[in-house]
Amino acid sequence: MTGTIQITLNGQPMAVPAEANLLDYLRFKGIEVPALCYHPDLGAIETCDACIIEVNGELVRSCSTQLNEGDVVRTGTSEAFEAQMIAMDRVLRNHELYCTVCDFNNGNCTVHNTVKKLKIDHQATHQSPKGAPVNRGKFYRYDPDQCILCGRCVQACQNVQVNETLMIDWELERPRVIWDGNGSTLIDESSCVNCGHCSTVCPCNAMMEVGMEGEAGFLTGMLKDAFRPAVEVTKAVETGYTPLMAISDIEAEMREDRIKKTKTVCTYCGVGCSFEVWTKGRDILKVEPTPESPANQISTCVKGKFGWDFVNSGERLTKPLVREGNEFREASWEEAYELIAKNFKETIEKRGPERLAFITSSKCTNEESYLMQKLARAVVGTNNVDNCSRYCQSPATMGLWRTVGYGGDSGSITDIGSAELIIGIGTNTAEAHPVIATRVKSAQKVRGSKILVSDIRKHELAERADMFIRPNPASDLVWLNAVTKYIIDNDWHDKEFIAKHVNNFDELVKGLEKYTIDYAVQHTGLTKEEIIKVANMIHEAKSTVVMWAMGITQQRGGSDASTAISNLLLATGNYMKPGAGAYPLRGHNNVQGASDMGSMPTHLPGYQKIDDKEALAKFSKAWGRELNPEKGQNNHQMVDAMHDGELDILYLKGEDMGIVDSNVNYVRAGFEKLKFMVVQDIFFSKTAEYADVVLPAAPSFEKTGTFSNTERRIQRLYQVMEPLEGSKPDWIIIQEIANLLGANWNYTHPSQIMDEIAALTPIYSGVNYERLDGFKSLQWPVHEDGTDSPLLFTDGFPFDDKKARFAPVDWTEPTEYPAEYDIHVNNGRLLEHFHEGNMTYKVEGLVLETPGAFLEVSHELAAERGLEDGTLVRLQSPYGRVDVKTVVTDRVYGKEVYLPMNDSGDAAINLLSSSIADKDTSTPAYKETKAKLIILDKGGKSPLPKTNFRYGHRVPQMGVNVQKKWERRDYVFPGTIVKERRGGK
Ligand code: SF4
Ligand code: SF4
Ligand code: SF4
Ligand code: FES
Repeated sequence: MTGTIQITLNGQPMAVPAEANLLDYLRFKGIEVPALCYHPDLGAIETCDACIIEVNGELVRSCSTQLNEGDVVRTGTSEAFEAQMIAMDRVLRNHELYCTVCDFNNGNCTVHNTVKKLKIDHQATHQSPKGAPVNRGKFYRYDPDQCILCGRCVQACQNVQVNETLMIDWELERPRVIWDGNGSTLIDESSCVNCGHCSTVCPCNAMMEVGMEGEAGFLTGMLKDAFRPAVEVTKAVETGYTPLMAISDIEAEMREDRIKKTKTVCTYCGVGCSFEVWTKGRDILKVEPTPESPANQISTCVKGKFGWDFVNSGERLTKPLVREGNEFREASWEEAYELIAKNFKETIEKRGPERLAFITSSKCTNEESYLMQKLARAVVGTNNVDNCSRYCQSPATMGLWRTVGYGGDSGSITDIGSAELIIGIGTNTAEAHPVIATRVKSAQKVRGSKILVSDIRKHELAERADMFIRPNPASDLVWLNAVTKYIIDNDWHDKEFIAKHVNNFDELVKGLEKYTIDYAVQHTGLTKEEIIKVANMIHEAKSTVVMWAMGITQQRGGSDASTAISNLLLATGNYMKPGAGAYPLRGHNNVQGASDMGSMPTHLPGYQKIDDKEALAKFSKAWGRELNPEKGQNNHQMVDAMHDGELDILYLKGEDMGIVDSNVNYVRAGFEKLKFMVVQDIFFSKTAEYADVVLPAAPSFEKTGTFSNTERRIQRLYQVMEPLEGSKPDWIIIQEIANLLGANWNYTHPSQIMDEIAALTPIYSGVNYERLDGFKSLQWPVHEDGTDSPLLFTDGFPFDDKKARFAPVDWTEPTEYPAEYDIHVNNGRLLEHFHEGNMTYKVEGLVLETPGAFLEVSHELAAERGLEDGTLVRLQSPYGRVDVKTVVTDRVYGKEVYLPMNDSGDAAINLLSSSIADKDTSTPAYKETKAKLIILDKGGKSPLPKTNFRYGHRVPQMGVNVQKKWERRDYVFPGTIVKERRGGK
């Protein structure tokens, strides 16, 4: 139903949107209605009854009322008020008002504010304990005696995050929130993934971040023994709630001055969650996402919500380091800079700019990546500049460039959540892009979308999928082509869309000839039925999105497999409409932005080609130097150049290349051949061990700038705290180095850098800091007038004829290994640690959850080789070896093993991987790694604590199951009580 309907509100006739939620509408009209359980991102939960008003003479909950034509709505009647007071009395039976000594008393406590607004001075039923202890986790804790049983936390855990850990046990005499369906399960022993949704949405101090405890208030830091007497004193002094509210409001206002709330953007994955960070000096009290957070609203994962201790780690670099023989010594910035300038200048003059190379970081800001490539091109004179998208995302970009012209997600995260069919190929979304996974899981659970997963490992999304296929490693292109062919052969392709919007259909049909179902069965290991079912699912869905990640891109044919995905989407008309399209999920927070900024050897900012004369002339003019038109080396080629003696200097910022590049033994040997190497980082990384100069940089909390997430969404991060003494933001360091080389740059704020980017980069042309103020964001292309592009393709595709093109692609068979290397070593991310772990291993709670690396082995392999949880094994590949302890699990199958990428020691995956790479982009074929397995020691302790969330037992249910509350013998709807009191009138 759309349009408007006519109602009467408090005697006034008015037209209201037909689908409006009554409570939202009343608030929109400025009519205050108390509501404790309602949250705009959670919908109606219907547990608190505080929102009761009168519709057509009946008392109803406004939060769940759907209006009908002719309805007569009255708010503020004495009956409604009486019902609201009954509801509030029940709420306050469950919550003790000790606001002045409460850490949650910061002006945003819904309980406090509602009591105040309703002018409640006393309550009929006094608060009483529920008889259960506080459940205390590493990151948040639950105090049942403060819990008003609103169920927001449960709704968030069950229906938004869909981790399905929480429920309210309505059967208990005094109901309360429980974990994994068991009243005695501790938070840290449950399936809880510590995403923090529950503590974010809790309207009071019941479910609260432990960082807040004893920190937020002036009086809340008192010792435990003093707390209870203080509460009693508070209550004795403040007779009635009115003075209590007044005093605590004054105290809350005073907190404003000492608690700083700063908007920033997460520095971990490419989802781009934004939130406010609450700090007291350098102490981080909590991270608070908001409904205004454009990519994530109230959602976060454990890293964004709780993974920030690293900024205050004692291991942070605070002084430049200079190599002396095999040792490093501390040096002044001046000395370090002098050394850099001398070496850079000498090499540029004597051996030429091509002897230098630059690696930017996809953890750093757009402005910093822009400056890094400007330093390489405009100051040094080389296009040898790259970023870590080479390790993961370049093939996806290539596949999209070939077919649809832009290398970016077709739409927004909301489009993924609104698709009828969500396909995930080679993406462990729940761990690598957790908040996107929440939208996928929620779409399935709440809205009935279908999930189709293709992966070699049964990760969480695969477990939940409506269909899960497990093709042979690196065979995705084959089934993708076969499905496309089957769809075309059955005349299911979108002929109208193709005729209007896509070129090369005949070439595609020809290219698909050999990809029969039989051929696919032979090479993928899938059954005929499975392949046909996939085709049917796509055919039957009105809209399909495909998300993919490193499981696709890190193959020898990664670009081609990505192209095959795009071909399939084009053939079925799944572009140019909401809820459809291609979603190459970007790994790092700013991997999209690092490439957008031209930190690539072949492209200037905004993907303007280095061999495009016009573009090059524009940049040459702006930068005051004739730029080099020859494409440079990518980071893969740089390593070969080090070995071949063709590269002398590497300047690398925020990238632990000596861990994350493939075949690191070879990479590190390359570093050793360099004449001079500069590493700029926040920690002394593995790569820093090979440097001549190490410069201490500042992490995202300590700087200003912008990140561009996987949805092409550009967002501002504000400085949460000053750089740790001795360290500097990367943009300042790069500018200082550029100026030592004669650049004369004078940026005093990153906004000036963005203005320059906008002037030179069409897809960023309308971007400026004002338009990105606060939680505002823009999705590129951004036109000069500031209009942006949530949906990437609306008016055709960015080619001269506005038409996309099919690009037929052929299968590249996976790398062959000698038979002795019989174990396929799959590898990738974990939820609780990020990448090589340089940051997350400095967060105590994350280390407690998962202290180190582990190798997942299958039950079949365990039985065959005699492996158990804790067996120490050696994996030996032709390139190196790792030693790691095993965990037996059904997530992997047969001779597949899974080694997370989060170790920088003996279990680092890239000690095993090869230098074999995607033929089109040089992205290493990490997923084509094989090894032999040797048992070193049996009977050790499991590397994964049994308290890890993976061992928990989820309790799926729809929301909070309020029906059970209503069925309780002691529950009567307040409206019914009021009616009875008034003699049924
Ligand atoms: S998974 Fe854990 S932290 Fe996340 S909402 Fe559920 S109970 Fe809360
Ligand atoms: S803990 Fe959960 S049920 Fe209790 S008040 Fe907080 S959000 Fe509501
Ligand atoms: S790691 Fe990713 S999903 Fe988690 S909070 Fe950060 S941006 Fe969001
Ligand atoms: S807000 Fe309507 S029942 Fe709680």
